[in-house]
Amino acid sequence: MSLPLEGKVALVTGGGQGLGQGIAKRLSEAGGDIAVVDLMLQNAEKVAGDIRAMGRRAVAIQADVSKWDQVQRMVDQTIEKLGSLDIAVNNAGVISIKSVAELTEEDWDFVNDVNAKGVFLCCKAEQEPMKKQGWGRIINVASIAGKEGFPDLAHYCASKFAVVGFTISLAKELKRTGITVNAICPGIIGTQMWYGPNGLAEKWKNPGETMEASWKRHQDILIPQGEAQTPEDMGDLAVYFATSKHVTAQAINVDGGFTSH
Ligand SMILES: NC(=O)c1ccc[n+]([C@@H]2O[C@H](COP(=O)([O-])OP(=O)(O)OC[C@H]3O[C@@H](n4cnc5c(N)ncnc54)[C@H](O)[C@@H]3O)[C@@H](O)[C@H]2O)c1
Repeated sequence: MSLPLEGKVALVTGGGQGLGQGIAKRLSEAGGDIAVVDLMLQNAEKVAGDIRAMGRRAVAIQADVSKWDQVQRMVDQTIEKLGSLDIAVNNAGVISIKSVAELTEEDWDFVNDVNAKGVFLCCKAEQEPMKKQGWGRIINVASIAGKEGFPDLAHYCASKFAVVGFTISLAKELKRTGITVNAICPGIIGTQMWYGPNGLAEKWKNPGETMEASWKRHQDILIPQGEAQTPEDMGDLAVYFATSKHVTAQAINVDGGFTSH
């Protein structure tokens, strides 16, 4: 029996680690060939190598999603090396943790240039080959921070609310083209963003608390199910979006029950 994404080519930005590598692997397990895109080429190469070892075609591409010329090159190279672009997961993202009083213009621009402008530039470039072939799946990674506000994350929340609004609007623009556009809104996952140096678990520690204890406490207080989600959970929703024809203009939460809208 053939796999649902056999013959399809998917590009995943920020695919070198964290959610992106989990999404890339799930798409390849469903039969897709993968362009793993990241600022960090070495990480992208490692993930592409793992996917090739599973028997799929995969290439690593270095690109900064906040730069238009690099985004165009990313799309061109995917098509040159793998033959088409059918599914695009715009997952690359960054965070910083500061109150509005502490936040500088540079902090705002850094987060919004990658998270919001990056999604715009990627979607702008990716829709062109998809329109020509009359089929495409665009999947943007937003966040529960695109549905709710959080202290010290106003700039990050602004970028993720932007991704949700942009996704729904683009889906409506492309409604008769064979392209669907949806967003994944992850809850909390123990990647660099939570668990790295200067990550949320560190920054939101109580006095005397270890990072591990802070991470456990946040899983308990934020997530009704009481445990964090995984990169593979996000990959499962990406496969669902990639294989659905009539699901478009949706921003679906994978957050253990935190958000209900
Ligand atoms: N971890 C979480 O709890 C969580 C929750 C909700 C949403 N998200 C979102 O999921 C996505 C992935 O986050 P993660 O937790 O895996 O983070 P991560 O920091 O582990 O991975 C992000 C990846 O994006 C790459 N990247 C950063 N800037 C880039 C740029 N300008 N161009 C290309 N690549 C770039 C990094 O090199 C890295 O490989 C982000 O959009 C993030 O906002 C994460």
